Amino acid sequence: MVENTREVLAASPVIPVVTIDDVEAAVPVAQALVDGGVPIIEVTLRTPQGLQALRRIAADVPSMLVGAGTVLNPQQAEDALEAGAEFLVTPGLSQSLLTWIPSSGVPCLPGVSTLGQVMDALDAGITELKFFPAEAAGGVPYLKAVAGPVPEVTFCPTGGIGLGNVREYLQLKNVPCVGGSWLTPQAALAAGDWDDIRRRAAEAAKLGG
Ligand code: 3PG
Repeated sequence: MVENTREVLAASPVIPVVTIDDVEAAVPVAQALVDGGVPIIEVTLRTPQGLQALRRIAADVPSMLVGAGTVLNPQQAEDALEAGAEFLVTPGLSQSLLTWIPSSGVPCLPGVSTLGQVMDALDAGITELKFFPAEAAGGVPYLKAVAGPVPEVTFCPTGGIGLGNVREYLQLKNVPCVGGSWLTPQAALAAGDWDDIRRRAAEAAKLGG
């Protein structure tokens, strides 16, 4: 259980972004991540199985901090909370989410890719944001540049990050953690290769220290 978004950002150097096609994979993949040392998961709502997968992880892997990703509007946010999500991640910011997020009090990482969106978020009292799509939207140089005008904002960059560039992101003072799908490749999910996922999680957990 987390009290606020800062606690979500502090849970792990990497938030695994997981898209689940087979709901039977939900609990084993979550358990493999926990066993590898990554006690947080963002289950995307991109597949019809997403909500059910989230529900199973919330029920069966109590040590996992489970969130919903690809939340596009307040209705999806409510559905994810009902399924057991403890935090929410959105790919972008809409007017309806700008109103819903602060009034809900739910830990949330709304996505931004421009300073105008960062300013909209600040106006709504939101200082923890997802920077998406990180590599395509300017990557490390962009995050360094915005630390000047908006030093109070912390970002969870996501999109195009992997073992090759994650350390550059984690060195930034406005980046406590990153998001990424490289811990849970679709091939490993399809094959049920939980050892591979556990090994990837262990590698990611070490990035913190
Ligand atoms: C996301 O939804 O945040 C991205 O799909 C994750 O990006 P990646 O697959 O490039 O890690």
